[in-house]
Amino acid sequence: MDLLVVGGSGFLGREVARRARDAGAQVTATRHGAAPPTFHSRASLLTGVAWRTVDIRRREDVARLVADVRPAVVVNAAYRQSDWATTADGAMHVAAAAAATGARLVQVSSDAVFSGRAVRYDETAPPDPITPYGAAKAAAETAVKGLDPTAVIARTSLIIGDGDSVHETFVHALASGATTGALFTDDVRCPVHVGDLAAALLELAASPHTGIHHVAGPDPVNRHELGTLIARRDGLDATALPTGRRAASGPPGPLDVRLDCTTTRARLTTRLRGAHEFLARRGDR
Ligand SMILES: NC(=O)c1ccc[n+]([C@@H]2O[C@H](COP(=O)([O-])OP(=O)(O)OC[C@H]3O[C@@H](n4cnc5c(N)ncnc54)[C@H](OP(=O)(O)O)[C@@H]3O)[C@@H](O)[C@H]2O)c1
Repeated sequence: MDLLVVGGSGFLGREVARRARDAGAQVTATRHGAAPPTFHSRASLLTGVAWRTVDIRRREDVARLVADVRPAVVVNAAYRQSDWATTADGAMHVAAAAAATGARLVQVSSDAVFSGRAVRYDETAPPDPITPYGAAKAAAETAVKGLDPTAVIARTSLIIGDGDSVHETFVHALASGATTGALFTDDVRCPVHVGDLAAALLELAASPHTGIHHVAGPDPVNRHELGTLIARRDGLDATALPTGRRAASGPPGPLDVRLDCTTTRARLTTRLRGAHEFLARRGDR
């Protein structure tokens, strides 16, 4: 399989590229603004991957890249939370380019397309975003569906790794006092491990399935519970983690969003572990 990972310099994109490379695929990955030396230290872990620079806000550049690489599969993991042009327009440009070349597309989406009013959402639930980011992801989904009805749209939740996600970094910074803030007890999601997610995306790419898929873990946890699990795994003092309530003091946005992955899980051989399992201390596993 020839794979193009758009957003390959990002947290999820790197894992997708690494797994595909290890499975024997020819992998091209893109970066945008990731600057040396950060980029070089990350990219050196991904030897054997061809790197290209692209700004997905530029339709012609995306079309040229995809026409040049001619991948069988495109995974789009690129986004910028506060930038509609990247998250929505950029996804549309990637979908148009994939459709023009007949490439199979997997578009990564988010539980942010939901308001949280219904709490639990399956793949048939219509988006009802209440933040600009959620609206951009929902717009991207619509653009992708319209341009490439055979694409997979994979909604996911908080992506956690083995220490290197933004969420884990934040918990470490809070625990050490390097930053201020709070872990909300009323902000609930279904976190997924980046390795499980990447494997599921590649499995979906190789499948005949199309349309919306929910790819998240089975355990709903609030941000403080998640922080406590991370702290315990990493030997930090979990009691030092400050708590708060997002409804009272946090940024506006959905409080409780749980992706129901029943339908997607039945289609996958990849197991999507829950936060309690993948964040268990090594001795407890
Ligand atoms: N992280 C989470 O907890 C979470 C939760 C739900 C859904 N998601 C979704 O998962 C996907 C991946 O998230 P992530 O955490 O891996 O993101 P990330 O680490 O922030 O990576 C974002 C990627 O997008 C690229 N990018 C940004 N602006 C671009 C532009 N204008 N043109 C081309 N590329 C651009 C970045 O390139 P440079 O770094 O080189 O600039 C980077 O490769 C996204 O679709 C996100 O919406 C993430």
